[in-house]
Amino acid sequence: MFKQLFNMKSYEEELKTFSWNIAKEELGYKDGDNLNIGWHCTDRICNSGKSEKLALIWEDHKGEEKRYTFDDMRVLTNTIASYLQKLGVNPGERVCLFMDKVPELYFGFLGILKMGAIAQPLFSAFGSESLLTRLENAGTTAIFTQKKHLPKVRNIVAKLPSLKYILVVDDDGVKPLREGEYSFKMEQEEKVYDFEVYPSKAETPSVLHYTSGTTGQPKGAQHVHYSIISQYITAKYVLDLKDDDIYWCTADPGWVTGTSYGIIGAWSNGVTQCVMDAGFTAENWYKFIEKHKISMWYSAPTAIRALMKEGKDIVKKFDLSSLRHLCSIGEPLNAEAVIWSEEVFGLPFLDTYWQTETGSMMVSNYPGMKVKPGSMGKPFPGIEVTVVDLQTHLPLEKRGIVGMIAAKPGWPAMFRAYWNNEATYKKKFENGWYLCGDRASIDEEGYFWFVGRDDDVINTAGHLVGPFEIESALLEHPAVAESAVVGKPDPMNMEVVKAFVALKPGFEPTKMQELEIMNFIRKKLSPLAMPQEIEFVDKLPKTRSGKIMRRVLRAKEWGEEIGDISTLENDM
Ligand code: WT7
Repeated sequence: MFKQLFNMKSYEEELKTFSWNIAKEELGYKDGDNLNIGWHCTDRICNSGKSEKLALIWEDHKGEEKRYTFDDMRVLTNTIASYLQKLGVNPGERVCLFMDKVPELYFGFLGILKMGAIAQPLFSAFGSESLLTRLENAGTTAIFTQKKHLPKVRNIVAKLPSLKYILVVDDDGVKPLREGEYSFKMEQEEKVYDFEVYPSKAETPSVLHYTSGTTGQPKGAQHVHYSIISQYITAKYVLDLKDDDIYWCTADPGWVTGTSYGIIGAWSNGVTQCVMDAGFTAENWYKFIEKHKISMWYSAPTAIRALMKEGKDIVKKFDLSSLRHLCSIGEPLNAEAVIWSEEVFGLPFLDTYWQTETGSMMVSNYPGMKVKPGSMGKPFPGIEVTVVDLQTHLPLEKRGIVGMIAAKPGWPAMFRAYWNNEATYKKKFENGWYLCGDRASIDEEGYFWFVGRDDDVINTAGHLVGPFEIESALLEHPAVAESAVVGKPDPMNMEVVKAFVALKPGFEPTKMQELEIMNFIRKKLSPLAMPQEIEFVDKLPKTRSGKIMRRVLRAKEWGEEIGDISTLENDM
């Protein structure tokens, strides 16, 4: 009946017949061959006869529009690759992308991969301190940035001996560039029509995405070119991308969704995608869908909730009939959001679950499969996912019990290391399972139901923020003696950052002080990391060994049972 309309056969059938070889064959890849994501997303698509097909339709907040065909993209990524090579960047070195969602970000990513270096995308709203931590850890050689973000790089460059090349993509000559800074104007460079792509293999490092943990500084999840096998096939099967689709992934490539599906998944399938480099308003978003006749839309629960808040009437002002398939990622997708989208768009948002570390989708709702609103769906065929006991980390035999989500290593897009942090990488594996660090249960029909994270990491609007990074930054503020950072429930962003702060003697717990500290964090780290609330306390709950018990503070915020506090030293 409807089934043949989707790229994927029925879920049950796929379970029986699926193999990663399907993806390899379709990509024309055999084990042992060279494999390069940059080439696969550009040259190979051109070779298949799609040179003149649109790859990217880009628009910014002023309404300026740029369009690029797959051949334009092939040539521009060659140009970037060749430029980096001539500059002296070597294969395997890290090249950071620190830009808004401009075309240079997307093509820079593929250009870096084409010449064999490792792409390190970082969210452009990061402040100097967040940037420093990640560039220092990666020993980054070069960074692409825009003049508006250049001051943040200049602030820290003296602390980064390995950072040799700062490439400004929109220099206008008004302020002179300094030593080590280069003006690189993608479209004005001499075009490179033929470039010898670096002969990367399946296991050659490709992308380094930083993600936050509970303790210590953010970790760099290192991926390899082989990831394209999962990214290609999940984009085809779950996002159901087809040749005539106009696809819109709303994620920023500073985060993994924006690269795995906002670059690799879409373009390895030869699909046209749209990028909107502008802030969110419901009006803008609907207008964008209408104007570009977007058919496949991959977004996030926070955005969906923001649209819900704007109501149903505004939707009627636009012709959104081009939409045919919607998916969601990054945070729990409330059942209400699924039901609402079905009502207003005639289509449910289908939830997908995965992580920076997994590189591609792990558990999803599939086109044609029964949707249970509020459930994340079922494991992608070819990946074994289960829940393990919270203590023993052994698979739970009985259904309906809450455990930790775990996956059998071996899917192509799995991260291969945390950069310079083998100990933490090893800790993620036990009894032959990769431990995702999230709690969930599986129902009788095999659907996964998300419960929460198994650690103190805060998920604000689909972005993970590590409490440790914020606490460390808070300590650098002259008024702060000590602090504890937890997630606090928020109707829109699911969680926001809340800081408990004990002030140093001589500082007053005033509103001014609160705002001053908030702003300090926003500038140093990012708007996401900025506490939305600061509660001044005399002291923090600590274990007898002196460790701050965030769990106690968090439970209070969520109105939960505090649990075992036998090791607590002081009473709150
Ligand atoms: C964490 C991973 C992968 C792209 C974006 C996030 C949470 C992710 C869901 C979902 C409930 C989800 C988990 C996960 N998460 N998807 N569908 N339902 N929670 O990547 O920054 O590495 O975050 O996001 O807690 O572990 P990330």
